[in-house]
Amino acid sequence: PRGPMNRQARYGSNLIKSHREEKLHQKKNLEKIMRQKNVSEDPTLNSNKFKKKFNNFNEKNLVVTDWERKNLNEKITFGKHTTLSLTEQRKSLPVYKMRSELIDAIKQNQFLIIVGETGSGKTTQITQYLYESNFTKNGIIGCTQPRRVAAVSVAKRVSEEVGCKLGEKVGYTIRFEDHTSSQTKIKYMTDGMLQREALIDPLMSKYSVIMLDEAHERTVATDVLFALLKDAGQKRPDLKIIVTSATLDSKKFSEYFLNCPVINIPGKTFPVEVLYSQSPQMDYIEAALDTVMEIHINEEPGDILVFLTGQEEIDSCCEILYQKVKTLGDAIGELIILPVYSALPSEVQSKIFEPTPKGKRKVVFATNIAETSITIDGIFYVIDPGYSKVNTFNPRVGMEQLIVTPISQAQANQRKGRAGRTGPGKCYRLYTESAFFNEMLPTTIPEIQRQNLSNTILMLKAMGINDLLNFGFMDPPPRNSMVRALEELYHLESLDQDGNITQLGLKMSQFPMDPKLSRSLLTSVSNNCSQEMIIIMSMLTVQNIFYRPKGKQQEADLKKSKFHHPYGDHLTLLNVYNQWEIAGCSEQFCTVNFLHQRHLRRAKDVKKQLETIFKNLKLPLIKCYGDPDLIRKTLVAGFFMNAAKRDSEVGYKTISSNTEVGIHPSSSLFGREYEYVIYHSLVLTSREYMSQVTSIEPNWLLEASPHFYKPTDENSHSRKKAKIVPLYDRFAKDQNSWRLSSIRQTRERA
Ligand code: CDP
Ligand code: MG
Repeated sequence: PRGPMNRQARYGSNLIKSHREEKLHQKKNLEKIMRQKNVSEDPTLNSNKFKKKFNNFNEKNLVVTDWERKNLNEKITFGKHTTLSLTEQRKSLPVYKMRSELIDAIKQNQFLIIVGETGSGKTTQITQYLYESNFTKNGIIGCTQPRRVAAVSVAKRVSEEVGCKLGEKVGYTIRFEDHTSSQTKIKYMTDGMLQREALIDPLMSKYSVIMLDEAHERTVATDVLFALLKDAGQKRPDLKIIVTSATLDSKKFSEYFLNCPVINIPGKTFPVEVLYSQSPQMDYIEAALDTVMEIHINEEPGDILVFLTGQEEIDSCCEILYQKVKTLGDAIGELIILPVYSALPSEVQSKIFEPTPKGKRKVVFATNIAETSITIDGIFYVIDPGYSKVNTFNPRVGMEQLIVTPISQAQANQRKGRAGRTGPGKCYRLYTESAFFNEMLPTTIPEIQRQNLSNTILMLKAMGINDLLNFGFMDPPPRNSMVRALEELYHLESLDQDGNITQLGLKMSQFPMDPKLSRSLLTSVSNNCSQEMIIIMSMLTVQNIFYRPKGKQQEADLKKSKFHHPYGDHLTLLNVYNQWEIAGCSEQFCTVNFLHQRHLRRAKDVKKQLETIFKNLKLPLIKCYGDPDLIRKTLVAGFFMNAAKRDSEVGYKTISSNTEVGIHPSSSLFGREYEYVIYHSLVLTSREYMSQVTSIEPNWLLEASPHFYKPTDENSHSRKKAKIVPLYDRFAKDQNSWRLSSIRQTRERA
């Protein structure tokens, strides 16, 4: 229902008023401090300097996030206010009342759908109920999560509740990280991991029950698992399959799973008042921060949850708010600021579940991970700017990009619901009521409808599933995205002309990564540079390792440039990793060089895992001692489709689609002029940028894929003049130059 107009008006004007007042207040305070301490420099620019200059500054109101704590090297203890014991907490969850009903239903049915409000205890409790009811006699209990963070945090929580060490009775597996053992009875994992297990064991023989959790997220892996498990269930009557979710179209799901029953868990939720922004917000970050301050100053106690789109946004918001509150000093109450996103180290993640000490307020800046995957108790206020970042296939450039996109109405309502778990709450929507009703889609589009499917299709092919058109998808992906994936796999030589998987493709499917990466890895074996390629691929898999702290950007860039390889970013990454290893993988090395130690350590883990896969496939690990040509040629073997040629007018143009692109300013090739380059991905900001770029020789493209490229003038021997064009037009209707019967068939039926 729509809220009364005056409420909106109130909120709208408050926002503006508080904003101005607060800014003024902040400025005055700052000026005062600066006068007193006689500093000419703006202290808000740098927290370390600030700390040094004002070591007697009243720190009572300090807001401390983990990264800040590290920076400031200070200790803050979070008070523990838990009044209920773990057992009491378990019994207080809505799902507890349904315990015997659920167990009975699972005993009587092979497939079951369970729908319940977020936080009702589905993820943490149902697995334990099954364990307590002896369901692990002939197999273990598996529970999938679309997100890594959720899998890890839930496994931790459940191991505490069960009273065991993580990895013993309760464990988790995520890509490149396995915390399970032979003792493990309850196993949480990402849906992607279970999908990979299906590759080796389609009948899921080690499981007695599999719970597909967060089914409403409709990730590609969950969607594929729907079909695989439905099939496995029909072949294995003793396998139980439970599909759980916060909100979903239960009728559709029930029909898909052979008309299985649906159980609803009545939630305990409180009403949430919705406040819309009066006019569209130009800058949702600023509006969100202002709203935080507005709530903190004017509203009753209760924690605040702010939904943002990604890590960078969240980190910078934490920093800005931290500085803001610091300058305000005693004027306001204490605020604890916490970031939540997938890449966060797990020590920090557990902080978000700690109860807020009395008299303080917690602000959590989260990605849409906090929508349903994790529940933070004590939230009374939700600030929803209305956006999230989604992986979307961009047909124009022929690849996937993370794009900030408006959320759906269903998501907005989920977000709202987070404010009503502990008591009546408020949800501040930083968009207009009309935007909600007229511009937002009712529900989110399943990922499978908009993502690159090459990895998924390669896995299905490796499982012997050839007839993709009749694969039992709940919502089949669009034909053209299947065609595109098949084409890509064909060009990478993982499928043959008839669309059957090749020996190479089978090997590629063993690597839990994009086929372009696994192709380069496999080529590195014959090119005698597998050790280097493993490092480069590991570095590409983790998040950006370079760190540019505010106020020290130039210093950081200077340090970074010392690692730069003249031929580009891939060799630069190799350089960084090798030097870090030579330095004994020390933290000191990272601090001095502005590198994320955590990301490098993860790269080391990934490297180890890739080496294990190499060993299992009996592939040799060979070093070429950094031979740049050999390494670049090997990269081209996987990334030849991501090639661009310099264009005197627009910078660069991709060869396959003629899209105008530039070299990303963070690239080591920025400002250099090479004729031909390959890139890892395209980033869309103010324009299309190539990220992770390496210079190449054009003839390498022809060598790598003679059926993808041809020289325009085959008689031209002048290298300067040689031009390369794609052999076929990926958007053309007729394809005469190559034949792929299964693809053609797919096209025709489309
Ligand atoms: O899956 P569902 O959303 O239904 O609930 P859940 O994730 O099982 O959470 C049940 C309760 O456990 C909530 O009150 C959470 O706050 C708590 N929990 C926690 O304290 N720490 C975690 N890592 C996960 C859940
Ligand atoms: Mg859950």
